[in-house]
Amino acid sequence: MKLTIENVSKVFDDKKALDSINLEFSTGVYGILGANGSGKTTLMRILASVMKPSSGRVLLDGQDIAFLDYRYRDLIGYLPQNVGLYKNFTAEKFLLYIATLKGLTKEEAKVKVLETLDLVGLADHAKKKVGKFSGGMKRRVGIAQALLNDPKILIVDEPTAGLDPKERIRFRNLLSKISTNRIVLLSTHIVSDIEFIAKEVLILKAGKLIQKQSPKDLLKGIEDKVWTVTLGKETEITKFQRTYKVGNIARVGDSFQLRILSDNKPHQNAVHEQPNLEDLYLYYFDEEVA
Ligand SMILES: Nc1ncnc2c1ncn2[C@@H]1O[C@H](COP(=O)(O)OP(=O)(O)O)[C@@H](O)[C@H]1O
Ligand SMILES: [Mg+2]
Repeated sequence: MKLTIENVSKVFDDKKALDSINLEFSTGVYGILGANGSGKTTLMRILASVMKPSSGRVLLDGQDIAFLDYRYRDLIGYLPQNVGLYKNFTAEKFLLYIATLKGLTKEEAKVKVLETLDLVGLADHAKKKVGKFSGGMKRRVGIAQALLNDPKILIVDEPTAGLDPKERIRFRNLLSKISTNRIVLLSTHIVSDIEFIAKEVLILKAGKLIQKQSPKDLLKGIEDKVWTVTLGKETEITKFQRTYKVGNIARVGDSFQLRILSDNKPHQNAVHEQPNLEDLYLYYFDEEVA
C-alpha cells in the first residue's frame, strides 16, 4: 500500500497553509512535526479526505482519493485534533454508536467494540461514562473509534497534547503496537512523542516540507552543530541568546552551561554534544522550543 501526496497546496483566503507538498507513505509510523500554524492539521484533514486541496492530488496506490471516494474513506481512521466525545455515553455505548455510523452491523459492532476496548486497555472501563475519564483515557477512546473499521491508514492529529508523561508513553506504545500493516500518521509539536516510534519524521514549517528523514538521520544532520558553552557570568548569557539558538541553560556551581545550536564553534571553550530531537526542533524552529 502506498499513499502519495502529489504537489498538494492549500490556500485559505490569501494564506498558503500548505505549499507544494510531495510525500510518499508506506506501512509504518510517520511523525509530522511542526510549530503551531505550520500546516499539520490542514495536511491531515486533506489526507482524511474531510478537506480538498486547492491544487495537487492524493493517490492511494496510484488512484486519486477523490475518485476512490467512500472506497478510500472506508480504509481510513481519523482522530481529529479537537474531538468531541459524548460525555454521558459509556465507552462501550459511544463506540457502538460510532460503529453503527461506520456501517457495521449490530453483531459485528458488538464484537469489534469489545476487541477494540481491549486493544486500547479500556476493557475494564467499558461501562463507565466517558465524561469521567482522564485525558489519556479519553484519547484512547478517540483512538478506539478511529480503529473500529480496522483502517489501513490511521491519522491522528496531536493525540498527546495535554497528557501527562505516563499517559503519553502509554499512548505512544499503543500507536506502535497498532502500526503493523498500517500507515500511521501522527502529528505533534512534542518531539519526544516520535523519537522512538516514527520510522520517518517530516518537518513542516510555514506550510513547507523542510525535512523528511528517519529520526536517526535527522540527528546525524545536526551532529556537529550542538555545543555546550560554559560562562562565568550571568550577564554574558543574553549576549549568546541574541546571537545563537540557545536551548537549556544549567547552573553548575558558580557558572552557567548553555546548550547552543550553531554551525560554527560559538566560543573558544565550546565543546560538542550528542544531538537529541529537542536540539533538532530548536535548530529548525528557533522561535518556539518544545
Ligand atoms: N479553515 C481555515 N480558514 C482559514 N485559515 C486556516 C484554516 N485552517 C487553518 N488555517 C490557517 O492555516 C495555517 C495552518 O494551520 P493548521 O493546519 O491548523 O496548522 P497546525 O495544525 O500545524 O497548527 C494557519 O496559519 C491557520 O491559521
Ligand atoms: Mg493542528
